[in-house]
Amino acid sequence: MKEFIKKLPKAELHIHIEGSLEPDLMFRLAKKNGIEIPYKNIEEVKAAYNFTNLQSFLDIYYAGANVLITKDDFYDMTWAYILKCVENNIIHTEIFFDPQTHTSRGISFETVILGISEALNDAQKKFAISSNIIMCFLRHLSQDDAFKTFEECLPFKDKIICIGLDSSELGHPPSKFKEVFKKAKEEGFKLVAHAGEEADYTYIYEALDLLDIQRIDHGVQAIYSKELMERLKKEQIPLTVCPNSNIELKVFENYKQHNIKKLLDYGLNVTVNSDDPAYFKGYLNKNFINLCENIDLSKKDIITLIKNSFNASFISDELKNEYINKVNKIGQINE
Ligand code: ADE
Ligand code: ZN
Repeated sequence: MKEFIKKLPKAELHIHIEGSLEPDLMFRLAKKNGIEIPYKNIEEVKAAYNFTNLQSFLDIYYAGANVLITKDDFYDMTWAYILKCVENNIIHTEIFFDPQTHTSRGISFETVILGISEALNDAQKKFAISSNIIMCFLRHLSQDDAFKTFEECLPFKDKIICIGLDSSELGHPPSKFKEVFKKAKEEGFKLVAHAGEEADYTYIYEALDLLDIQRIDHGVQAIYSKELMERLKKEQIPLTVCPNSNIELKVFENYKQHNIKKLLDYGLNVTVNSDDPAYFKGYLNKNFINLCENIDLSKKDIITLIKNSFNASFISDELKNEYINKVNKIGQINE
């Protein structure tokens, strides 16, 4: 099964680029930029990655992002992720970034977006990896702050396909960002939001009904509402599920308890993603492998999950067909 997973071409739809910052690059950038980090060595960093919930992770994740200063730093972080895409056979990726984490430290929006987008352009040229960029608002900040960030992104509109919502979920429901999402829709952006990761399924309803999103990031709490499950099935709204993340952040006790197979068997449009792979012990293949080692997923299930990702992506129908044909070809050879 491991070989089968590795060989299949894949898409990733839920990866925070700041969550791909590996400890060794974090140390190099800290040294280069003269930024203090609260760890003596990589072992100490890894020991700190012992989370109890989403907030305990976010505190460390935002501190890690402090080492990113120049355009080259954002380029290098993104390029390191692209090399992981090559390793994981990811041929299309849709990357989140959190501009407010950087602009609040005096880094310009331009520095961030150009560093990331130049690396993605090079990934297309060198490895034929296609990509899209999703700009997320931090939900623990105000809607006014999100509006300010939205204005800042407009000169770079051609580089950003979609607007998302992430950070501390509990106490910051989607309704808080209704107006800014309305504005983003008017400007032609696609929309997604983290919902039903830690907070209950009512956040998923809000994301759908008040923000008018096209995909739900996480969404695993949907299982507690039969009515919502029926709607997600009927409308085939994609869920970008992140198994390793859910285990590391204690959303589920272990992989055997994870509900991805139940969601899939119910007929929901489920995809597998890595979320913050540098913090959650592995990239996309590792998410699939951990699931397969603990849950009864068939090869057919794996193919379905992978095809769902391509179908739920923001690429053209033509490119979707091309990629899905590749999956069919390689999937058959191995079965
Ligand atoms: N930012 C980075 N990872 C996140 C997650 N899993 N949930 C919410 N915000 C995040
Ligand atoms: Zn996420």
